[in-house]
Amino acid sequence: MNWHREKLFNKDDQRINLLLLNLAQYLRKDLNKIYLRQGDKYEKNILTEGELIENGFMSYHLNNNDAGHALRSICTDIKIGQHLTKYYGFNKWKLVQSMMFDSNPSTSLHTDNIFLDSNPSGNLIGLLISFNDMSINTGGICFYDYTREEIEELYSSIYKELPEKFQSPEEIYSIRGKFLEALEKFCKKKSIDLLLEKGEIVSWSSFLPHKSLKGKNERYDTRFSVAAHYIPSEMSFGTSLGKNSANYADRFQSNHFIVG
Ligand SMILES: [Fe+2]
Repeated sequence: MNWHREKLFNKDDQRINLLLLNLAQYLRKDLNKIYLRQGDKYEKNILTEGELIENGFMSYHLNNNDAGHALRSICTDIKIGQHLTKYYGFNKWKLVQSMMFDSNPSTSLHTDNIFLDSNPSGNLIGLLISFNDMSINTGGICFYDYTREEIEELYSSIYKELPEKFQSPEEIYSIRGKFLEALEKFCKKKSIDLLLEKGEIVSWSSFLPHKSLKGKNERYDTRFSVAAHYIPSEMSFGTSLGKNSANYADRFQSNHFIVG
């Protein structure tokens, strides 16, 4: 199986409660500060009609404040290291990136490896930690259970056409589009839809197709959670698209943190 669900943190975990408080009392009211977001954009908060933050925070765990430290502590908790080693092998893992969400991010179907991966590729693990109970109103995450071999076969003709060196970020976006289009046409299996409880986690391999699961009231009900990404400690961070594909994005520049 290429994904694993586990109840890892208690509902009364103080770090999670500190993050919930920080979100309600500070982050949602903070309309002027610019943060790094998904897609490597720098933006102020954008709020939904229900006053949830629509644009997730990239690597909020790098912030040197109580909430940043709490997020970093959860994302590098020894229990996460044990989960990763148990299901994916390797003794030591490191946290390389995170995305913290308030409202459901409405992420479309993708595999992580074309955006972020280990080098050698295929060993990056994504892990969603839920900070509140997900429901049909908040939405969750869904997976399509294909094997690594099936996805590699699907992508093989696009990999063969990759340039030796990328000349611009636009060139990378355009090639990513080809992968996403091929995946969209290919994924016909029934999805596995998951709603996590507060403190629960689910992890997946970098080649597993997934997207966010839509919620009935997702503009008003928070799906507060973090998607953290890990690679084995001895490997370097990049994408599966080749040598200089990581040169154009800020997500690859930050420090890594050993788990455990
Ligand atoms: Fe993803």
